[in-house]
Amino acid sequence: KKTVREIDVRGKRVLVRADFNVPLDEDGAIADDTRIRASLPTIRYLCERDARVILCSHLGRPKGVVEERLRLVLVANRLSVLLDQPVVALRDCIGPEVESAVAAMNGGDVVLLENLRFHPEEKKDDPAFAERLARLAEIYVNDAFGASHRAHASVVGVPEHLPAVAGLLLEKEIGTFARILEDPERPFAAVIGGAKVSDKLEVLDNIISRVDTLIIGGGMAATFLASRGYGAGASYVETDRLDAVRRLEERATERGVRLLLPGDVVVAERLEAGVPTRVVPAAEIPDGRIIADIGPGAADEFSRELAGSRTVVWNGPMGVFEIPEFAEGTRRVAAALANLRGTTVIGGGSTTDAVVRFGLADQMTHVSTGGGAALTMLAGKPLPGVTALDDAGTP
Ligand code: 3PG
Repeated sequence: KKTVREIDVRGKRVLVRADFNVPLDEDGAIADDTRIRASLPTIRYLCERDARVILCSHLGRPKGVVEERLRLVLVANRLSVLLDQPVVALRDCIGPEVESAVAAMNGGDVVLLENLRFHPEEKKDDPAFAERLARLAEIYVNDAFGASHRAHASVVGVPEHLPAVAGLLLEKEIGTFARILEDPERPFAAVIGGAKVSDKLEVLDNIISRVDTLIIGGGMAATFLASRGYGAGASYVETDRLDAVRRLEERATERGVRLLLPGDVVVAERLEAGVPTRVVPAAEIPDGRIIADIGPGAADEFSRELAGSRTVVWNGPMGVFEIPEFAEGTRRVAAALANLRGTTVIGGGSTTDAVVRFGLADQMTHVSTGGGAALTMLAGKPLPGVTALDDAGTP
């Protein structure tokens, strides 16, 4: 796809779709600004070329009406500090007031439109809404990797009206996933965890045909263990996925993929802080106990396996890492990746949260800013927001 470097942006009005959907804490403050920081290269690139930068994004899931705590002024203020220049937060994203504010901009100025999802038309990909957004600018840049799996007006509607190119973050995200999936340096390992197999089935299906090793952790290990005939205690076993898991195991065997399950696990009666925990062999999970994390033996084995890999992609935590008692497995895998001399890609969502929380993000090759979008890439499926952009080489 065509990128922002292949189009003349000098002095132009440029509408940048960013993903500023940042987590907020209880007081409504920004809990983690990773996504805001990730958008800086594109914004700086445009400002340096005297473009008039019109940023837009969604925040949270408002139901098509204004929700005060989801106003983007929070993000504008943070951006302004990071960019060291004023970022004006507008009170809407379309309409005459927005149009006149945009018309008054000078080269190098930055404004941020109000939360797109305050209008129900955004999620419906309403053509008239997309046209009104497009009217604000001469060029459209998609830098919202994290929202590119959504066929919403600002993602797929606006590019129908304007020259539409990828921003630097989008380019980096897409390029990284494409490279590791299509031409990884081997051995190539994937670590897949998280609560449920059903969330990751398409990813597992795609990745099994590409990796040398597949490591399974997290709550979903219960369904894999059950498919091998072990009892999983009171862990949630997705009985409707047992066949799918069996087929994955068969494909792994056919292709010579090493499929590793945790040999031991941390179990508890409930997934709560302060409950007593025990480490047990995965084949001997007591009745009434739930898998809360991989065990220390599994962490050792996974770490050893990963140390020999040249490329690792990781999506899904090894345990309920938000609770300190169940964080160790996730921390050990994060540390194994941080120490690896090879390509390490953190596939977004809670895995990114974990790596950021452990302070290891800087030691990874790439930490994705996408949740659902990263899963879509790992599943080998196209992202509507990328498909909508101009092809490379188009004038
Ligand atoms: C995300 O956080 O994954 C993106 O910003 C998309 O948000 P959504 O799931 O509310 O569409």
